[in-house]
Amino acid sequence: MMKAVVVDPNAPEHLALGDVAPPQAAPSEALVRVKAISLNRGEVRGAQSAQAGARPGWDLAGVVEQAAVNGTGPKAGTRVVGFLPTGAWAEQVAVPVNALAELPEPVTFAQAATLPVAGLTALYCLEKGGGLLSRTVLVTGASGGVGHFAVQLAWLAGARVIAQVRREDRVAVAREAGAHEVVVGEDGMAVSPFGPYDLIVDGVGGVLLGNVIALLAPDGTCVAYGSTAGGQLTFDLRHFFLTGGASLYGFILFHEVRSRPAAHGLHRLAQLLAAGTLRAPIAVEAGWEEIGPMAQRLLDRDFTGKAVLHVT
Ligand SMILES: NC(=O)c1ccc[n+]([C@@H]2O[C@H](COP(=O)([O-])OP(=O)(O)OC[C@H]3O[C@@H](n4cnc5c(N)ncnc54)[C@H](OP(=O)(O)O)[C@@H]3O)[C@@H](O)[C@H]2O)c1
Repeated sequence: MMKAVVVDPNAPEHLALGDVAPPQAAPSEALVRVKAISLNRGEVRGAQSAQAGARPGWDLAGVVEQAAVNGTGPKAGTRVVGFLPTGAWAEQVAVPVNALAELPEPVTFAQAATLPVAGLTALYCLEKGGGLLSRTVLVTGASGGVGHFAVQLAWLAGARVIAQVRREDRVAVAREAGAHEVVVGEDGMAVSPFGPYDLIVDGVGGVLLGNVIALLAPDGTCVAYGSTAGGQLTFDLRHFFLTGGASLYGFILFHEVRSRPAAHGLHRLAQLLAAGTLRAPIAVEAGWEEIGPMAQRLLDRDFTGKAVLHVT
């Protein structure tokens, strides 16, 4: 048996370490010894209603113990970052080679563990906007895990980046990420003077999305990947189609990786981390036995950035 994070309705935030059977790797999967994991809001929220014994976890970084038997992917001993649809929070995992990328030497396991869901979502959302050189991009929820990566990557791509945060104390975080303008306000109205926007990357939804969608430029794209604020989306459809060529794209990472495997994006993000042009927004680090309290802090919005747990 080995240790893994399992759903336990009696544990803090329903998450605890438990004993599970080790993984059996398929021919196209490598066995990875996990060193660090990171938490995302979606999986932590999901654990609150999941059945006892369920195995959450999407983000992992570690060392390949056994290469895929079909001869593809990284060799044994390679440091890697990986993405799984479930069960990544374990001592050992079987990961399809198309969801693994090798880590350049300077990148730590903790830094790498922040990349899969947050980094890939930011990268693939931004790519829905095409070439971003000198384009105007709005990133809402810029203090969040995805938002922080999106601001950095949009800046690196040469865009003029407007970041929306809802609180004054989040301004510095968005500015450090590279935003040219940081706008404070929960309903998104204050971003109006900096538009129109060629691309909007939104993880907040609700009233804010209804307001900012009216600020799209002709042929602009709004990529909606989250609904953190909840609530219904209402917007003026006439204004939307009269803009001309504007589009609203519903983004789900698990759908995107079917056509653009995680390995591709993870490789590029890891290279940017190694070059020092991308920063992993690690807010808190702890041992993975702290999974329950750390999940609680994440749900309480006790920190800004990513929580990384070391698997010891
Ligand atoms: N579709 C996908 O494939 C995909 C992938 C990744 C994430 N997601 C979803 O996208 C959302 C963001 O993910 P994340 O990991 O970046 O979460 P996160 O780190 O919790 O960030 C959430 C962001 O939204 C802001 N926010 C929270 N409540 C708000 C409200 N009522 N009004 C305005 N802004 C609000 C937060 O601001 P504060 O800093 O002030 O709290 C923060 O900037 C989550 O719902 C997540 O489940 C979806």
